[in-house]
Amino acid sequence: MNYKEYLWWHKGTVYQIYPRSYKDSDGDGVGDLRGIIEKLDYLKDLGIDAVWISPIYPSPMADFGYDVSDYTGIHPLFGEMKDFDELLREVHQREMKLILDLVPNHSSNKHPWFLESKSSKNNHKRDWYIWKDPGKDGGPPNNWLSVFGGSGWEYDEETEQYYYHAFLKEQPDLNWRNPDLQQAMLAIMRYWLKKGVDGFRVDVMWHMIKDEQLRDDPPNPDYKEGMNSYSKLLPAYSTDQDEVHDIVHKMRKVIDEYDERLLIGEIYLPISKLVSYYGEDNQGAHLPFNFQLLQLPWNAARIKATIDEYEGALPENGWPNWVLGNHDNSRIASRVGKEQAKNAAILLLTLRGTPTIYYGDELGMQDVDIPKEKIQDPQALNEPGVGRSRDPERTPMQWDATKHAGFTKGEPWLPLMGNYKEINVKKEWDQPGSMLQLHRKLLKIRAQEPALQVGSYVPVLSEEEILSYIRKYEKQQFLIVLNLTDSEVNFAPDFEWKGTVEVSSHEEFEGKEMSDKINLPANLGLLIKLK
Ligand code: GLC
Ligand code: MG
Repeated sequence: MNYKEYLWWHKGTVYQIYPRSYKDSDGDGVGDLRGIIEKLDYLKDLGIDAVWISPIYPSPMADFGYDVSDYTGIHPLFGEMKDFDELLREVHQREMKLILDLVPNHSSNKHPWFLESKSSKNNHKRDWYIWKDPGKDGGPPNNWLSVFGGSGWEYDEETEQYYYHAFLKEQPDLNWRNPDLQQAMLAIMRYWLKKGVDGFRVDVMWHMIKDEQLRDDPPNPDYKEGMNSYSKLLPAYSTDQDEVHDIVHKMRKVIDEYDERLLIGEIYLPISKLVSYYGEDNQGAHLPFNFQLLQLPWNAARIKATIDEYEGALPENGWPNWVLGNHDNSRIASRVGKEQAKNAAILLLTLRGTPTIYYGDELGMQDVDIPKEKIQDPQALNEPGVGRSRDPERTPMQWDATKHAGFTKGEPWLPLMGNYKEINVKKEWDQPGSMLQLHRKLLKIRAQEPALQVGSYVPVLSEEEILSYIRKYEKQQFLIVLNLTDSEVNFAPDFEWKGTVEVSSHEEFEGKEMSDKINLPANLGLLIKLK
């Protein structure tokens, strides 16, 4: 493909905002849309191309917005529709894109659709959700489990049937086998696309259709005491069914009714299955989110093997992508430590494919220890001691050294990290060697160099502590060399090379000329422009 043919989402960088925690404009301790508007210049200056915001729709907040009670409204906590329209306008004015979170697998149990569906067996929306008679023993219809703990089935005394919920019982699963439900959800997509939204990140895409015969899920042979209860079974029949691809294709067709819009799918599956979500002839999701970097141990050999596996598994013309953090997983600076988090940033922003940055990771924000009595995440509250709390990675963005890091004038909904006087946007913006500076440099060079945006990926054979590769487009070549350990190693590839360090995890290396064999101090990462 010619450089000019690549679209914004091939070349650009996505940034995820968790709206509750980005910037609070009205002092209620919860971030909001006007808060995000205030920070758009920051995102533009940082070099972000597209902003994905987690759900902002009306919701009882049983799962912090992933339980939607009105798919075409705005929760008053976040603002009003006129604030949203202004946000969209302001994003576009800065030549950025706005991506919404679509949650089509389940609604809130307070959604009018569910209230109707629940009202009687004969209601015309009964079949919009997954209702079944009790099993033979009067218990749940099968053994399916909820991701958040316990059975996936909830009994309704009035109509004497169970409904299925893959997550909380306040999040009943919608029945995507029902054509009216399908049309209703596709109409919701059109509603936002018509407004000018640039795409969707589709929540739990691989959950959307379940086995028609409701067969029991098999036991997980790797389950061990102490794991969360969902791990007891393999979700072979409750997720990733063949028919899901028809649904994804229908969503894609709606996306394609408009200009250059983007369909992203949230999918936690092994690579071989993940890539099927590109769909036949790439008519599925543009970007099935690739969470490999969230899940792999921080080991060069493992990461290298996984990049190769992923590159090899991609369908022809399927565009790769990489995610380093999100609101459901421990932050990168906590997972791999502050030093290696810099290499992780270089990796994310120089691998082939669209990168997604999680808000605050550009500062080196870490997981925040939340005292027990302050835990908010239902995943933890539902299965105390077993379910992992996601609060630590959802804490307020650290803007400056003033009270509550400039996030709010009120009481923040989650506590802030004690180190915010050091780790914040204002302090790090011009601070040599800061994580934020590193991101600014990486995003800048990425935006200037076709080789880094769309160039090919060529793995470099090297010592096992080192992750190395070349990105290449026409005559431009970049060599990336990352020492993923905290000891010194030699880098001696089996070819000759010469170049200038453009960006480094250790900024004193920037501008240095290097060639052939080099000695890499502990934790050093280099982005080298080859001559
Ligand atoms: C997705 C979201 C997560 C949410 C779940 C249920 O995994 O990322 O935050 O709890 O879906 O909607
Ligand atoms: Mg607020």
